[in-house]
Amino acid sequence: MSTVVSNIGLLVTNDGPERTAAALVLDHGRVVWVGDSAKAPAADERVDAGGRCVIPGFVDSHSHLVFAGDRADEFAARMAGRRYEAGGIRRTVAATRAATDAQLLATATRLVAEMRAQGTTTVEIKTGYGLTVDDEARSARLARTLTEEVTFLGAHIVPDGIERADYLDLVTGDMLDACAPYARWIDVFCDRGAFDESEARRILLAGRERGLGARMHGAQLAASGAVRLAVELDAASVDHCTFLEPHDVDALAGSDTVATLLPGVEFSTRSPYPDARRLIDAGVTVALASDCNPGSSFTSSLAFCIAVAVRDMGMTPAEALWSATAGGARALRRADVGHLAIGARADLVILDAPSYVHLAYRPGVPLVHRVLTAG
Ligand code: NIG
Ligand code: FE
Repeated sequence: MSTVVSNIGLLVTNDGPERTAAALVLDHGRVVWVGDSAKAPAADERVDAGGRCVIPGFVDSHSHLVFAGDRADEFAARMAGRRYEAGGIRRTVAATRAATDAQLLATATRLVAEMRAQGTTTVEIKTGYGLTVDDEARSARLARTLTEEVTFLGAHIVPDGIERADYLDLVTGDMLDACAPYARWIDVFCDRGAFDESEARRILLAGRERGLGARMHGAQLAASGAVRLAVELDAASVDHCTFLEPHDVDALAGSDTVATLLPGVEFSTRSPYPDARRLIDAGVTVALASDCNPGSSFTSSLAFCIAVAVRDMGMTPAEALWSATAGGARALRRADVGHLAIGARADLVILDAPSYVHLAYRPGVPLVHRVLTAG
């Protein structure tokens, strides 16, 4: 069935300049025509955008939705001056292990729906709160029922009750084998209190041998060699990038590795925001993602991330929108989403606003009029 979305006041396709008075035709889940609303061909169904702004659906390339429990008390303590520590992950691991499959799936499903209602049409979901072979495998299996973009993050931290060397053997051996059938990516938290560069290298290379693409949590808590390692291993993305040295920026600029910025984390941990302006000016591809998780960033809103990126990270509204759509797609090495060129997936958002600038100009306001998806 074909659909024409007409009377679009402002259309962002991420494929050529913004258009006014535009229309789109969608057929079989793809964009098949883009042009002036007055010249739009007929279709089976007509959606009148009423002069609103239309953007590509958000591509949230980083989330941790398979978990149980709540860490609001840690958030409140941080707002009172306490520092964020990677060790909080252990609390969520304990709660997640104790939960049933049905409970985990219900929470993740609710969060994906929450994201969808706010304009996110593609989401990546990581494991990482199970940290046993069985608990990681079920996290991957449950995540796979919600998205194709599943990431194995057994290397989140070394859990209690196992020697570090034994855990590394597991993450690069049996646990990886159990999760790889459900996953497209492997990730490692390479930072203070988690895994070091040589461990991260071993983990990402083991994943690559099983056919998984590399991603990394790096430079969230401290500068290190993580970013350069991610670039060296051609990771699709290195995420956080809060503490970067000049050589990290240079390495990213000459690479296909996206720097994914997660401003919900700096907001929720009261940390300095990463400098998106510096990265963009150096030629680095920047994505914005939610990092939705119960510890460091319990937001599912990319509109919120855009608002912070514009307000405090030096991005223009147009850059921030690009990073939350096309940038996220680059971070997942996907050519079919994040834009609305002919042939792209028909994933789009009709905003209740005349311009995408309102995503930052009207922070905290629900601005999604309607979400259309190919699926
Ligand atoms: O991306 N940095 C590592 N992992 C998550 C936080 C997880 C947690 O605190 O539960 C993150 O920020
Ligand atoms: Fe994360």
